[in-house]
Formats: sequence, structure tokens, C-alpha cells
Amino acid sequence: MKRNLTAVYFSPTRTSRTIALKITSVLSDRWNSSVAESDLTRPDARAKEYAFAPEDLVIFAYPVYAGRIPQVLDGVLDRMKGNGALAVPLCVYGNRAYEDALLEAKNRLTADGFSVIAAGAFIGEHSLSVKLAAGRPDSADLRIAASFAERIAQKIESGDFSAPVVKGNMPYRERMPAGEPIRPVTANACTGCGLCVKVCPMGIIHPDDPKIVGEGCLYCSACVKNCPVHAKRFEDPRIPALRERLETSFMERKEPELFV
Ligand SMILES: Cc1cc2nc3c(=O)[nH]c(=O)nc-3n(C[C@H](O)[C@H](O)[C@H](O)COP(=O)(O)O)c2cc1C
Repeated sequence: MKRNLTAVYFSPTRTSRTIALKITSVLSDRWNSSVAESDLTRPDARAKEYAFAPEDLVIFAYPVYAGRIPQVLDGVLDRMKGNGALAVPLCVYGNRAYEDALLEAKNRLTADGFSVIAAGAFIGEHSLSVKLAAGRPDSADLRIAASFAERIAQKIESGDFSAPVVKGNMPYRERMPAGEPIRPVTANACTGCGLCVKVCPMGIIHPDDPKIVGEGCLYCSACVKNCPVHAKRFEDPRIPALRERLETSFMERKEPELFV
């Protein structure tokens, strides 16, 4: 039986969005139905209430931050109401590891009243690098996402709504310690176009002067990767040091893992 489709995602650098929309587009072709999108990337969208119904299928995609669901989603996930809708959590990680991020989503969505019927871990270009998982998800990842969508559809059409066993451990990995905050610096090349203001998921870049960045940066790199003149970058030595470690140890290609 076909379902109403909604892609719900938080995706500062758009890799999670790409996976979510590939899966919903295959399902919508198969079921000849439309797709609703709830983009939780901007703060105003995360302040809203989201409630679903038993006829819905929610594809929920998000990046892995330090082996967990990004903490910034806590509030919106606490308020989300599944009301018996089916859900598929999809974590997207930067080729290091996804650790407890998928199990956490399965547990949270189940607690919110969703029936989790499948889950997937995909790989996206690392937020803090242009070399680690560069260009991913790529065409091979999207082919895997498409066949995953067909498996999800077959499972639903056969009336099987069982929950998959997913990888991960409880208690979940400790959150990153807060530490001294880091924020991006802005080079003189900045033209003040304001694109970074629009893409910042925390709304902390000053709309009248995008060189001014307030507190609360997630290091998501939406401003860094979207700036047309490469004016934003992380200068704090902790970020280049982390990038160096990641690019030294985690370059070997990982493949998506699917749980149906
Ligand atoms: C603060 C932060 C923490 C991250 N932690 C991890 C991690 O634990 N493992 C990993 O492989 N990638 C990690 N990443 C990389 C992202 O999960 C990855 O690049 C993802 O594709 C970004 O999704 P988006 O394009 O939807 O924003 C991290 C990125 C950031 C900004």
C-alpha cells in the first residue's frame, strides 16, 4: 500500500538532503505520489511542530556529528509526533564512523510514535574537508540509495512493518565537550553577498555585515563551502589539526550500510 511521502532533513552542506531526496524520488515514481519536504536546517523550521499520520512515510536524514545525531535537533525531535507513521532514519557521515547516530535516531523516532521499518548509513563529503569522501554521495551511492528505496517499498507493500536491528551502542557516545568556541573568520575578499547568512543553520551571521559571526557555530561548514569567493574559513588551529588527522586516517572508501 502506498504512503504519503515526506523528506525531513537537517543538512547544512546538502549531502543528507541529496540522499533523502533520491530515496523519496524513487518511491514517488513507484507510487505515483508527490513528496513533501521539511527542511530543518534553518532555525525557524526547527522551532515549528511536526506531526504525522499513519498513512505517512517519513524519510529522516541528518549528518553524523561526533558519532551522534546533531544536538541542535534535540528540541524539534522531542516535539515531533509520529502518530503511527512509518519512518526510515538515514545518517550521512564523512567516512570516519557513524557510531551510535543511527541507533539513536531509531530509538528517538520510535519514542516519538513512529514505526521504524528500515535505516541506512550513507557517506557524504566531510564537512571539514574537501578531500575526505570528496564529491560523495556519488553516482554509486545514489544507485545504492535507489535500490534501497525499492527494498523499502517492497517491504511496505508486503505489509511487513517490522523494525530492523541497526548498529550502535547504548549508552550513546559522549557528546563533544564544549571547549573554547570556534567560529569562522572572514577574509577581505568577502563581497557581502549574504549567501552565508541564508545558509547558516544557526542564524548567527550578521545580515547587514556577514563578516560578523555570533556565538553558537556548529562547524557545519555551510558558510565555508557555499561562499562563492572562499572568504570564510576556520583559522583556529584545532580545525586544521582535526582535518589533518581525518585526512590521514580515514581516506579508505567506506560503503553505505542498509538495514531493512
Ligand atoms: C561537528 C561535526 C562533527 C562530525 N562528526 C563526524 C563523525 O563523527 N563521523 C564522520 O564520519 N563524519 C563526521 N562529520 C562529517 C559529516 O557527518 C558529513 O560531512 C556529512 O556528510 C555532512 O552532512 P550535510 O552535508 O548534510 O551537512 C562531522 C561534521 C561536523 C561538522
